[in-house]
Amino acid sequence: MMMTSLLLWPLLALAADEVTFDPLAYVDPLIGASNGGNVFPGASLPYGIAKAVADTNSSSNQGGFTLDGSMVTGFSGMHDSGTGGSPSLGNFPLFAYTNCANGDVNQCVFPKRSRVDFGGFANTSVTSKPGVFGITLDMGIRVEMTTTNHVSLFKFTFPALGIDGQPAQPLILQDLSDLSDSRQDNGTISVDAAARRITGSARFVASFGAGSYVLYFCTDFSGAEILDSGIFVNSRASTEVQNLTISRGINGYPLPGGAFVRFSSGAEPILVRSATSYISVAQACRHAEEEIPDFDFEAVSDAATNAWRQKLSPVKVSTERVAGSFLTNFYSGIYRTMMNPQNMTGENPLWSSDEPYFDSFYCIWDLFRSQLPFLTIVDPTAVSEMVRSLIDTYRHVGWLPDCRMSLTKGYTQGGSNADNVLADAYLKGIHQGINWEDGYAAVVKDAEVEPYDWCCQGRGGLDSWKSFGYIPVQDFDYKGFGTFTRSISRTLEYAYNDFCISQIASGLNKTIDREKYIESSGNWQNLYNSEQNSSWWNGTDTGFTGFFQPRYLNKTWGFQNPLNCSNLDPNSICSLQSIALETFESSIWEYGFFVPHDQATLITLYGGPQNFISRLNYLHDNNITYIGNEPSFLTVYQYHYAGRPALSALRAHSYIPAYFEPTPDGLPGNDDSGAMGSFLAFSMVGLFPNPGQNVYLIIPPFFKSVEITSPLTNKTARVNTINFDADYKNIYIQNVTLDGKPYTKSWIDHSFFTEGKELVLTLGNEESSWGTEVKDLPPSLGRYQGFDKKGNTTGGGGGGKVQMRREVYEGNFWIKKWW
Ligand SMILES: *[C@@H]1O[C@H](CO)[C@@H](O)[C@H](O)[C@H]1NC(C)=O
Ligand SMILES: *[C@@H]1O[C@H](CO)[C@@H](O)[C@H](O)[C@H]1NC(C)=O
Ligand SMILES: *[C@@H]1O[C@H](CO)[C@@H](O)[C@H](O)[C@H]1NC(C)=O
Ligand SMILES: *[C@@H]1O[C@H](CO)[C@@H](O)[C@H](O)[C@H]1NC(C)=O
Ligand SMILES: *[C@@H]1O[C@H](CO)[C@@H](O)[C@H](O)[C@H]1NC(C)=O
Ligand SMILES: *[C@@H]1O[C@H](CO)[C@@H](O)[C@H](O)[C@H]1NC(C)=O
Ligand SMILES: *[C@@H]1O[C@H](CO)[C@@H](O)[C@H](O)[C@H]1NC(C)=O
Ligand SMILES: *[C@@H]1O[C@H](CO)[C@@H](O)[C@H](O)[C@H]1NC(C)=O
Ligand SMILES: *[C@@H]1O[C@H](CO)[C@@H](O)[C@H](O)[C@H]1NC(C)=O
Ligand SMILES: *[C@@H]1O[C@H](CO)[C@@H](O)[C@H](O)[C@H]1NC(C)=O
Ligand SMILES: *[C@@H]1O[C@H](CO)[C@@H](O)[C@H](O)[C@H]1NC(C)=O
Ligand SMILES: *[C@@H]1O[C@H](CO)[C@@H](O)[C@H](O)[C@H]1NC(C)=O
Repeated sequence: MMMTSLLLWPLLALAADEVTFDPLAYVDPLIGASNGGNVFPGASLPYGIAKAVADTNSSSNQGGFTLDGSMVTGFSGMHDSGTGGSPSLGNFPLFAYTNCANGDVNQCVFPKRSRVDFGGFANTSVTSKPGVFGITLDMGIRVEMTTTNHVSLFKFTFPALGIDGQPAQPLILQDLSDLSDSRQDNGTISVDAAARRITGSARFVASFGAGSYVLYFCTDFSGAEILDSGIFVNSRASTEVQNLTISRGINGYPLPGGAFVRFSSGAEPILVRSATSYISVAQACRHAEEEIPDFDFEAVSDAATNAWRQKLSPVKVSTERVAGSFLTNFYSGIYRTMMNPQNMTGENPLWSSDEPYFDSFYCIWDLFRSQLPFLTIVDPTAVSEMVRSLIDTYRHVGWLPDCRMSLTKGYTQGGSNADNVLADAYLKGIHQGINWEDGYAAVVKDAEVEPYDWCCQGRGGLDSWKSFGYIPVQDFDYKGFGTFTRSISRTLEYAYNDFCISQIASGLNKTIDREKYIESSGNWQNLYNSEQNSSWWNGTDTGFTGFFQPRYLNKTWGFQNPLNCSNLDPNSICSLQSIALETFESSIWEYGFFVPHDQATLITLYGGPQNFISRLNYLHDNNITYIGNEPSFLTVYQYHYAGRPALSALRAHSYIPAYFEPTPDGLPGNDDSGAMGSFLAFSMVGLFPNPGQNVYLIIPPFFKSVEITSPLTNKTARVNTINFDADYKNIYIQNVTLDGKPYTKSWIDHSFFTEGKELVLTLGNEESSWGTEVKDLPPSLGRYQGFDKKGNTTGGGGGGKVQMRREVYEGNFWIKKWW
């Protein structure tokens, strides 16, 4: 239902769009399928476990399929999307031949490593739209695929003649491998020709985690008569044997092994229904029979496509005057936010519970920033289920995960960032079915109890954190173990995690805890060395002084070049290696802005708003930050805190579309489960979250108007613009009304979406004074200092003097306003 608007012309424009608007027309799943995007470009339902696609032998095949000149190795039904780490899943791939020469199965090529030679395809043969993927191999075999939640349905269409010119006698094989070739002892597979079914299971290693998982499958065939069937081991096959248990092998492992079915005719397409389960073969077969009872490819693919249309329908933008590439960037970005996490409710063998179970939080360090906050707007029910799953994981595993895939604990990159996810959901009123007392106990445990294995959950160095207020470089920690690096980024993230805990505490009226965690949320200041300068490797000084630095147990400073681990540093090791530096995948320069809760104090430390802005400009203008990795996201918008929201808009337009093309190679860096997609989606809507806070920073949308309907309240929030121009010269907000009343704050809260409010932004081609006064700045724990009364930003600031947090807490407008 349309809501009426006071402004006649936007209403008319929207009414015209309404008639023809199909968001799926703007989704291209192949975006990010090459150049390291690692996107899963195949068929899936929103949050579906079954994700069917052709797998290639690319060295960047984390998402299964790539369009980079690599060859197809098989067709498999489980994947993650956009991840780094080793390629995930891709278990039990199928492969097909039109026939085997001379009718001899041993003339067909079985092992993945050699059959890839038959996996050539033309790029132009690849088709992908939400819910359906297709490809034609150079051998002439067309393979189309679609999915339900647990089941993939493949349709193989064969040419009339096989490799030796004889009539088709198709062979379809399925093997016990995965993308990473991680199979462990013992894989088993059985083929039952009479039942037209192959079943089996194997143990595999999780791609970025500590542990392994067992997966079961059940594959059924529909179509031509079965001629014969059998198994293969290494390069040899036999129709005499129907069952195989195979070890991993001791070299060249895992040993190739699998089963096959051969058909008497290729005249009609052969449909292959393949289901998986983490519970049992029986459960996999049950999924198959229940979800796809009659092998109806059209019905399944229509249902999948409609499920996507439904999920994307809450977001509607005006298509007027904008280039199609912007619309495709936008809707494809939204589409990618709903690939992972995966809804594995009912598929968790580790504990029994009535709570939902989601997996493939891969990883929360990436997802907390904008992906999960985006879903909080467009799919709050899914987020409530994800949060319930996180809390239930805490109940049964003992800890909230920081990363989780394939039923195992993933590696923690920085802080206990599930705390941020819970706070974000809590503050935005995501309460459906969530037990917040348990949720609170979970985040407090992160802050108070050090796990033995903080590689994969919780936080390390808690004794030092409690006694010194920072994580020392070369910490002495005998209680728990993880990679003893990243002391700076861990300190900054732990501080923010504590702030997030304080916000939940506040809502739950746990006032003592609130104060305690507000206090420790200031620990970031303990690593600020006001004397430290920063020079380029050639010795040229950047001109800025005052940087976070490593600090020893004895409180003296260590040294890390603030530019190390930046986008421009080709040498440093900055991930989870034992010899990595003190910042994770990001420089001290960039982490220097990661104080999401206290920008005011940071601005003061950096010498006032003018200097803060110069520093932020230097970060971006010199490519020290890179929009292809998540820590950059918020830096695009932090100008808001210095009273210059116009510069955030300018910066967003400098990155979009320059770094985001709606093409296979168009993404900067890994999509990270849709994190990049969500950066696009939020930026182009013109409202960017500061995650863990009830705050969205306002810039003009990239469209003339945007409307988002809350699936919870059915109310529609609108952003309308006046003077929109598609050349993006008018990207500066002149003035704003919220529900018809003048609105000068540069941010709004989540009620905008749930209560269906309307922002009208008047745009112009020059920066204005809108959003520049202190009273209009987004909330910050400390007091804004060094801004002049009229809103002009003046240099100088507070000269590095920072007031006590307790004082701030008692007098701070934001806390008062907040609670
Ligand atoms: C993929 O397989 C093809 C065909 O065997 C081979 O030429 C190519 O080098 C392989 N690519 C990789 C990355 O291994
Ligand atoms: C297919 O596209 C990829 C990526 O653009 C390119 O590397 C490859 O060469 C293309 N293959 C053909 C046959 O054009
Ligand atoms: C694998 O199977 C063999 C043969 O049945 C058995 O001896 C061995 O214990 C099994 N290994 C595992 C890890 O189950
Ligand atoms: C082969 O495996 C099936 C299914 O696991 C089983 O029912 C059958 O008895 C096995 N046959 C042989 C010969 O082991
Ligand atoms: C997750 O799966 C369960 C069980 O199938 C279902 O009830 C629930 O609606 C699903 N949640 C989402 C967000 O799709
Ligand atoms: C916290 O206290 C406020 C004010 O007394 C009350 O309205 C609110 O319901 C309380 N919240 C909880 C979770 O107890
Ligand atoms: C040193 O490197 C920086 C950054 O690349 C550059 O801006 C500067 O001009 C260089 N200085 C000299 C003296 O080469
Ligand atoms: C503090 O510890 C560091 C690292 O062991 C050492 O280099 C430094 O000299 C110590 N400083 C003092 C004052 O003891
Ligand atoms: C930053 O990177 C972009 C894209 O690679 C390039 O066009 C620009 O010249 C770079 N700027 C600097 C200062 O190196
Ligand atoms: C929103 O609309 C749906 C579908 O029309 C309806 O089932 C639901 O009850 C509505 N919710 C509210 C809060 O009005
Ligand atoms: C909003 O800005 C426009 C353009 O600068 C101006 O014409 C208009 O009068 C302003 N409206 C208000 C209410 O300030
Ligand atoms: C803000 O600064 C600009 C440029 O220096 C100046 O023109 C303007 O008058 C100042 N505005 C106020 C309100 O002080």
